[in-house]
Amino acid sequence: MLLLCPIPIKKGHAVNFLNSSGEDSHPDCNHTKSREKPMAIFGSGLIDIHSLSRNKIMSILALAKDLKEALLARDVPRYKLCRDRDLLVALLFYENSTRTRSSFEIAALRLGLELTGFGSIEGSSVKKGESLAHTLDMFDAYQCDAIILRHPLDGAAKQAAERVGIPVFNAGDGKHQHPTQTILDLFTILERHGRLDNLQIGLSGDLKYGRTTHTLALALSLFSGNTLHLNSPPNLPMPSSIIELARTRGTEVVIHNSLEEMVPDLDIFYQTRIQRERMPDPMEYEVAKKAGIFTMELMNRTKKGFGLMHPLPIDKAMPGILPELDAHPNSIYKIQAGNGVPTRMAQLALALGLAAESVTDEEPVAAIPGGFCKTLPVVTKPVREGVSIRPIRDRGVVIDHLRPYSESILARLLKLEERADVYRSATVRSVKRPDNIKGMLMIEDRDLTEAELSMVASVSPGARVNRIVNSRVIEKLELQLPLTIEGIESLHCPNAGCISRPEHMEHVAPRFDKIGEDMVACSYCDHIMTTRELFASISK
Ligand code: NCD
Repeated sequence: MLLLCPIPIKKGHAVNFLNSSGEDSHPDCNHTKSREKPMAIFGSGLIDIHSLSRNKIMSILALAKDLKEALLARDVPRYKLCRDRDLLVALLFYENSTRTRSSFEIAALRLGLELTGFGSIEGSSVKKGESLAHTLDMFDAYQCDAIILRHPLDGAAKQAAERVGIPVFNAGDGKHQHPTQTILDLFTILERHGRLDNLQIGLSGDLKYGRTTHTLALALSLFSGNTLHLNSPPNLPMPSSIIELARTRGTEVVIHNSLEEMVPDLDIFYQTRIQRERMPDPMEYEVAKKAGIFTMELMNRTKKGFGLMHPLPIDKAMPGILPELDAHPNSIYKIQAGNGVPTRMAQLALALGLAAESVTDEEPVAAIPGGFCKTLPVVTKPVREGVSIRPIRDRGVVIDHLRPYSESILARLLKLEERADVYRSATVRSVKRPDNIKGMLMIEDRDLTEAELSMVASVSPGARVNRIVNSRVIEKLELQLPLTIEGIESLHCPNAGCISRPEHMEHVAPRFDKIGEDMVACSYCDHIMTTRELFASISK
């Protein structure tokens, strides 16, 4: 999918499609909604990397450095920050884990926190069919102070954060993100190179389903002068939305066909495991077996200061890094995994108010106007003869400039037949501009509510709505894509792994955020699409 999202605005970025000024916004639809801002670390966990600015990341890394030094020096008063506070952290792991779970546990214990939860769904009521929401409610009811969640569905952590009022840490949600891993990855890169900018970084392996590389690529794109070199089996490329976003931020992204060609230039090579368990089609794994393997021969071609990283585990049946490299001084994946403890201590400490942020200045967040329709001047014209569709004579609405063929989706969403409305719909050639094909929908004796107007605006941004009373257009509205699309029956996220999909039975209402003029992202799994792609599922 080619993504044309010039200025991503999700979560704190500026929108490039500004609505009308306050004066001509229609009173029905001129709400201003504040977009999600980069989160303060204190009092909140970490759901996805979009919520962190460069400054926030540096603040976490600075505290993690201090804590690592304190741990190495066994300086207990310097790292056991919980002191006499009684704080309880719940680890809810719906997927296997060695490092993330253990390092979070150790981080909590070193801080002096208490632990509860489960490391596997075996033996829990998840096996009895309990939803994520209900399980979360329990740990909220038990007055836990933070939740650390690993879950197979994309967007699970976002849902958790919306469900409970305590900090939630995303310890990996499906193929979506793994932000606390990224913090330890960045810490390791900073330790190795003393900087997070102007680096040549190779990401390799399963770039399609691997959440670690998704999050790391996005984080590295926040720092200037980095080049991302990508290499994956042909069927497992990095999602184009991530590549586009990185490029929009000025990060160079180079796609390679072999490890041999990319390795000599790299400061860091980040290998990943083929995520067989996430592949719906077993054939995907068969093709993926062609993934590049990091060998001693490749290591011998690397430049000074090079670091070989891996989030681990390495699959012994199909190793992305050969075992003889474990002892090589440039193999830093053991150090990397060890950094999971101080970095997760830092994140827990900041979230629970056990430590203060060292860098607090934040990039300003542009306010995003929320109106989705503006009033246009009404021009009274004589009724044209010979047009293909007769206008409404007495009372009703005429929706014009619709995206071609979207009128049938709207007829369904506006329940025209169920309501026994009289309507006419068509995709027609514009009378004034014959090269322009547009949809039209005319509904007699009907006015549209704000929710219905928002629905029309979502399906077909740019549409115009004429309200007709006594055979006269009394109001003309131009619609723009609303900030949020929600509450539309049978509209689902196209990502099969998204927690909001009905087949997962998690009862998460789908919601989509505007990220460009005609682009939206799923609020849960971040899947990016045009509105046409979003509504394609209900047009069938
Ligand atoms: C990764 C994960 O679970 O996403 N490991 C980790 O958390 N350290 C990578 C993987 O499973 O391959």
